Amino acid sequence: MKTKHKIIMGDCLEVLKSISAESVDLVFADPPYGLAKKNGLGWKYSKHITLQEAWDIFNKDDFFEFNIKWVTECMRVLKHGGSIWVCGSFHNIYQLGFILQHLDAKINNSIVWFKPNAQPNITCRMFTESTEHLIWGAKNHIKTKWMFNYNLMKTMNNGKQMRNVWEIPLTPKSEKWAGEHPTQKPVELLKRIILACSKEGDTILDPFVGSGTTSFVAKSYGRNSIGIEKEKKYLPIIKKRLNPPQKTINDSEAEVQYLEN
Ligand SMILES: C[S@@+](CC[C@H](N)C(=O)[O-])C[C@H]1O[C@@H](n2cnc3c(N)ncnc32)[C@H](O)[C@@H]1O
Repeated sequence: MKTKHKIIMGDCLEVLKSISAESVDLVFADPPYGLAKKNGLGWKYSKHITLQEAWDIFNKDDFFEFNIKWVTECMRVLKHGGSIWVCGSFHNIYQLGFILQHLDAKINNSIVWFKPNAQPNITCRMFTESTEHLIWGAKNHIKTKWMFNYNLMKTMNNGKQMRNVWEIPLTPKSEKWAGEHPTQKPVELLKRIILACSKEGDTILDPFVGSGTTSFVAKSYGRNSIGIEKEKKYLPIIKKRLNPPQKTINDSEAEVQYLEN
């Protein structure tokens, strides 16, 4: 099956307005968590510095308003029965859950992503955060039932029902070959979500596509995708991942477009 992939460079609050209502089957959003500091913290003996990207820095009121706006737009473009997945940490996930419930999404699960090799805590004044959280909601589930590929998930979990605690290590170096994005998600995480909640030929939207992980996984599994990203510095990474030097069978079947908003 030939799939189509659009990468639209621009602010998702603007770009989303140009996408038709009820036109996408699945939304995956990995938004700013609002946890970055102007000057990140680091260890003496390690190169790792906590997030300090300007795109993740908001004041309290602006952050809430931003979250309401993009979630509302994502719910508008989602088809009836479509799924929306949002991810975050304690910094943003409660707000996102509140907004989704307020917009009448049916919450199906909250997933705890356990990172066995999470970075140590630098301040030593609290427990080491080693999880992120994902909320899976569905739109107008009474009119049209949401999709859940139960049997496939069970098969992927050695024949046992898949639980809501997912143990997935941090994004391995082997997936970062195309360049550095500070919050690139592991392919395994997106693979589970896309295979669980969509079928071949469906369209998946990611309003914060970053290094292009969602589009990359959608392309690998025969789904169409729309990815939005506002930082131009990440475009070369996205391009390398979506048009790799060595083509696979799926690559030749895909058309990738890069658009400026
Ligand atoms: C948490 S990262 C997403 C990482 C992505 N899941 C990946 O695997 O690479 C959030 C991304 O959203 C982008 N971003 C932040 N605000 C945005 C906005 N208003 N519109 C579009 N992109 C935005 C950032 O530049 C960043 O790349």
